[in-house]
Amino acid sequence: MKIAIAGGTGTIGRRVVSAVESAGHIPLILSRRTGIDVLDGAGLVDAMSGVDAVIDVSSTPSMRTNTAVEFFTRATKNLLEAGRLVGSTHHVALSIIGALAVDAQYYAGKAAHERLLMDLPDGYSLLRASQFHEFAGQLTARMGIGALHFAPRMRSQPVSTTEVAAELVKLATGEPQGVVADLAGPREERMADLVRAQLAHDAGRAQRVIEVPLPGPMGRAMRDGSLLPGPGARLGSETFADWLNAQGRPNA
Ligand SMILES: NC(=O)c1ccc[n+]([C@@H]2O[C@H](COP(=O)([O-])OP(=O)(O)OC[C@H]3O[C@@H](n4cnc5c(N)ncnc54)[C@H](OP(=O)(O)O)[C@@H]3O)[C@@H](O)[C@H]2O)c1
Repeated sequence: MKIAIAGGTGTIGRRVVSAVESAGHIPLILSRRTGIDVLDGAGLVDAMSGVDAVIDVSSTPSMRTNTAVEFFTRATKNLLEAGRLVGSTHHVALSIIGALAVDAQYYAGKAAHERLLMDLPDGYSLLRASQFHEFAGQLTARMGIGALHFAPRMRSQPVSTTEVAAELVKLATGEPQGVVADLAGPREERMADLVRAQLAHDAGRAQRVIEVPLPGPMGRAMRDGSLLPGPGARLGSETFADWLNAQGRPNA
């Protein structure tokens, strides 16, 4: 099969590309770095010629409601339309546990994304996952000021991107299933502890991290457990500690 991966150069996207190759299929990476902007859609149909299924793991770094809604709405519509024109019969998308209910800031983009798919009669599979193990590192890249490190007050059950990627590829190579059971990691963690562990791992010594409650509905959802998996969720096996121990130290 030829499988297009929108966002195939990103955090989970790179894992999805590897999983597609390991399963003996042909990946096609759609990202600005490979010359395709899913927002303007130029060249998308030509690039997607011969594609059987699409896995959408593209994203915007913006936390602003309007920007996030605009990104996920336009990207999803462009990918669905291009998929239809090239005869691709399956669109697989990744969302976040709890985003639909929060429906604000970045999660408003994910909620809009989910609704576009759930309005389709068929032809899609939608997986919701918890934060990736890499999320703590994504936060440190965005929330630090000089030597000061911050982490949001947040309850999370982070999951392995290898496990999520394998699930996305399994979905893409099967029949469309609509919304499938959520996928989270094996245990609940406090995000500030994960950020501390990530920073200590990267620097080779302990780092002070200030835990802050983030404002707005997204910050409230982070604190109150709205982003944790519910009773029907499947749990992966790799813990954050296992994952971090397996990472080489930067510049080591
Ligand atoms: N991070 C988490 O903890 C987490 C947890 C659960 C679900 N998710 C979901 O997983 C998905 C991917 O998240 P991520 O953390 O892997 O994102 P990421 O690392 O920020 O990667 C984003 C990807 O999107 C591509 N992209 C951005 N704008 C684009 C555009 N206009 N046209 C084409 N490609 C574009 C980027 O490539 P270029 O820059 O080359 O364009 C990159 O490959 C998102 O839908 C997110 O909501 C994330």
